[in-house]
Amino acid sequence: MISKQIYCKNCENFIKMPHEEVIQGHILLPIPIQLSENYDLIEKIGSGGFGIVFKAKHLLEEKLYAVKLISFDSHGFSKHQIEENFHELSHEIKNYRKMKHKYIIKYITSFKYVQENSIAIIMKLAESSISPILQFIPPEDAKRFLLQICEGIGYLHNEKKPIHRDLKPQNLLILNGEIKICDFGIAKIKVHEKTTLSRIVGTPEFMAPELLNEEDFIDAKVDL
Ligand SMILES: Nc1ncnc2c1ncn2[C@@H]1O[C@H](COP(=O)(O)OP(=O)(O)OP(=O)(O)O)[C@@H](O)[C@H]1O
Ligand SMILES: [Mg+2]
Repeated sequence: MISKQIYCKNCENFIKMPHEEVIQGHILLPIPIQLSENYDLIEKIGSGGFGIVFKAKHLLEEKLYAVKLISFDSHGFSKHQIEENFHELSHEIKNYRKMKHKYIIKYITSFKYVQENSIAIIMKLAESSISPILQFIPPEDAKRFLLQICEGIGYLHNEKKPIHRDLKPQNLLILNGEIKICDFGIAKIKVHEKTTLSRIVGTPEFMAPELLNEEDFIDAKVDL
């Protein structure tokens, strides 16, 4: 219920109205929030180790997209670490732009937004990830999805595009009954954080042992 939500600038989150005790101490903004000249934020989809994903509306096209907002401000990075992560992320975005495959979520555009140290990546909006439906996927669909994931990952590896590093149900989206892989390369930024701040951000249950052990040499096998 979009109209019953309100956005808090302090916690970068949408909260439900009316809950006065929750609202105290928040900086409330009416929805939709303008992200850029072209996009309004409509609703939060979810958040992960390094960003928040929203539904966003393109104001001219009147079409919905997904936007991943990545901010380096709230992670206690030094200026140097922020620059390093920015550099890494812009490299990954350049790679992502080149990727065109039916099982990879389509990149639309990206830009810096409002705060200096934040990047918005606009992509096609999927219906959901496979995470909430994992237990209910019929065997026939599970087989089909597995083949699609392999084909998408095969494309990444064969084209010498980046290793994904963070394959997990939340990064496997569903659109029109097909898998769309998302979030390649972003894990690399987390590796930066992990090595610079010595804490693991990510999902150890789905990580290859060599990533968890911070081994120096990793290759495409981490995606298998
Ligand atoms: N293009 C998209 N369309 C629809 N939902 C999306 C899209 N991209 C991401 N999501 C969903 O948004 C939520 C938050 O994603 P986010 O990448 O921030 O976190 P995560 O995938 O759980 O963790 P991580 O930060 O490790 O990738 C997830 O549930 C993800 O499936
Ligand atoms: Mg993700």
